[in-house]
Amino acid sequence: MKVLFVCLGNICRSPLAEAIFNQKVLDTGHSQDISADSCGTANYHIGQVPDHRTIEVAHRNNVQIDHLGRQLSGDNFRNYDYIIVMDKSNLYDTLALKPENSKAEVRLMRDFDPEPGDGEVPDPYYGGEDGFQQVFNILDRSIDAFLKRNMTSPA
Ligand code: 4NP
Repeated sequence: MKVLFVCLGNICRSPLAEAIFNQKVLDTGHSQDISADSCGTANYHIGQVPDHRTIEVAHRNNVQIDHLGRQLSGDNFRNYDYIIVMDKSNLYDTLALKPENSKAEVRLMRDFDPEPGDGEVPDPYYGGEDGFQQVFNILDRSIDAFLKRNMTSPA
């Protein structure tokens, strides 16, 4: 199973989602069958490392993070099983690129959150450090629920 996480800039929410997801998959011994990547709908941060606050919150929570920014393309819909977006604006922009022969199922991250709030992962870019830990907690919970639904057997 291949999963692509999508946000706007690909330096805050989606690279953090990718890192949390891949850490959980590694820790549970599923990395042969399940993997994640991330990208942004915008081209602002192509080739850039994640925001320093994203790296800090990942490390504080014992998650390895290693990603360079890239932009969503039409090809991605043929190469991934799930494309999971952070907010409704990402959903709109992502669906606008979806080709006829898409394999990927496009979903909002908080569709999987047991405490879905307003249904969106808030953009922490213009806020403080607290916002990054809140985003971490939302992603951690939602990814646990996603993996529980989609991992049929233990390694
Ligand atoms: P992200 O956050 O979509 O979670 O990566 C943002 C990062 C950068 C910008 C906006 C949101 N920006 O406007 O540069």
